[in-house]
Parts: sequence; structure tokens; C-alpha cells
Amino acid sequence: MEYVDEIRSLGNQLSFRGNIEVPSEVDKIVIAGMGGSGIAGMIFKDCYTKKPVTLVNSYNIPDFVDSSTLFVAISYSGNTEETLEATRKARKRGARIRAITTGGKLAEIVENAVIIPDGYQPRSAVGFLTVPLLRGFGLVDDSEIEITKKLLSGYDVSVDPYRKFADEMYSKQKIPVIFGTPGFGSVAYRWKTQFNENAKVLAYATSFPELNHNDTMALEGTYRKEEFYFFVLTHPLLEKEISNRIKITSDLCKIEITRVEGEGATQFSNLFTLIHKGDYISYYLAEKRGVDPRNVEIIEKLKRGLKGSV
Ligand code: PA5
Repeated sequence: MEYVDEIRSLGNQLSFRGNIEVPSEVDKIVIAGMGGSGIAGMIFKDCYTKKPVTLVNSYNIPDFVDSSTLFVAISYSGNTEETLEATRKARKRGARIRAITTGGKLAEIVENAVIIPDGYQPRSAVGFLTVPLLRGFGLVDDSEIEITKKLLSGYDVSVDPYRKFADEMYSKQKIPVIFGTPGFGSVAYRWKTQFNENAKVLAYATSFPELNHNDTMALEGTYRKEEFYFFVLTHPLLEKEISNRIKITSDLCKIEITRVEGEGATQFSNLFTLIHKGDYISYYLAEKRGVDPRNVEIIEKLKRGLKGSV
């Protein structure tokens, strides 16, 4: 499969039917995952507020993990050492363990793991990785998925306006800076990581309103301001207060902020349409730079190096 086809498949990924089974007696949720798999936990955390959710992206788990904790390990390969180690520790504490993976060691150590299709780059499988979590918690239903799929399929790559952003960034060698909004911080971070892995450029993500209490000073006064390309990810559900903040920030700091808007009437459709747009922009930037968006050789080397076999 061409890499662009992996990106294009997002709508179909959303139809994946498996879901994790959620025990009613748990009182907190911990989700472990790294990189392209870890993003699924971040998206979940943006959508779910009924019980405390903690994300783990290292080897260690919080002290509070116990038998009333639902621990979900997410790893596309099933072999990521931080996620495996955190899962083993959670098991020792008696946590209720679930997993989403294509296989690997994770599928061996967690019974009834949700097995998703392999053959993708982990970061391209964001639909497969996230939907079993959202479905398990009843956060998305079939009709919402159908509506979102339609929105994603209406995205015409040949005439899309997003290529323009990549062209501008490339021609002026700009570094992307992405501003999220409440309930959408995960997508800003996703854009950053897609710029990193697909286009091989550094990128920075932060969110409104928090950024107004720190970044704002740098946005106004940093050196080499002209070297950044500012995006804000908005959507039709955006609170008026946040919309005002975007305008005031842009005026006060004298920066041009490019708005990219999600689509549809729900958080789910807006999250995934924004993810899709960011995926394409990072892909086009890779194309412009002449780098292979699929290639993550250094990450793989590093993983092998950690196992003592570079
Ligand atoms: O997109 C990628 O290839 C990486 O960010 C991986 O997702 C990350 O290294 C973790 O691997 P895995 O998703 O297999 O757990």
C-alpha cells in the first residue's frame, strides 16, 4: 500500500468493529502507549470525562494503580518496551488489563486483546487504534461514524487547499507551531508528531487557553518569529471565549495564525476531520522535502539499540 493510501484509509478504519470490554466496577482509567499508538489515549482523554484518566508514556505506572483500575495498553506492533513494561507492572498491581494491538508480545501477555489489522505504519492506523477505545466506552455510535466517514471521503486530494500550506512552509523553510483548543489538544499534538515523523521537521504544539499564560510572551517577543508557521485548529463547536482569545492573541502578538477548521456537528467528527487534514499537510511537506514519510529508520534503530542489537 502506498503511504498516501494509508492516510486515505482513515474513514474505513473508523468502521472497525472490535472494542475493549469495560468493567463497570473500575473507578479510574490508565492508558499506556507511545508515539503513534499513544495518540489514541490522548484522543480518548479529550473525549471522556466521567472518570479520572491518566496517560502513561514511559516504563512506570502511577502508585494509585490497583484492582479497581482499568489499564489499557495500546501498541500497534505490540512490542514497544515502555508499554510492555508498564503493562507487566499494572498486572502485578491487580489492575484490569485490556490491550489494542496487531499482535506481538502484548497479544501474548494480555488475554483477549483487540487485534487490529497490520500492514500500516502505527501512526497511520489512528482509526483502528482509537475506535475500540471510544466504542468500548460508548463514546461513538454507528451513525456518527457514518457521518464522519462521509466527511472524510469528501476530501478531494487532487484539489485540496492543504497542499498550499505545505508549499508555503517549504518555500520559506518554516517550523510549524500548532495551537489546539479545549477538547482538541490531542489533535494539535497529533499534528506535531505527524510533522516530526512524516515530514522530518521539528514542530511545536500547545493549546488555548493555557498558551495565553506563557507562550503568549514568546509569541510577541521571540527572536526569529518569521521562521514559524502558526496554525490554530478550530471547529464549529468552539466556545466564543476561545474564539476571542485567538483573535486577541493574533492582534496583540502581531502574528498571522492560519485557521484550519474541523467539520461536522460532533467532537468525534471534528477530531477526525482535523486529524485527516494534518496528516495530509505533513504528507505534502514530506513530498516537497523529498523525504519518505513512511521511513522511521532512526526510531527503529534506537529500539534495536535498546535491545542491544543496532
Ligand atoms: O508512528 C510510529 O512508527 C511510532 O510513533 C510508533 O507508534 C511508536 O514508536 C510506538 O510503537 P508502537 O505503535 O508499535 O507501540
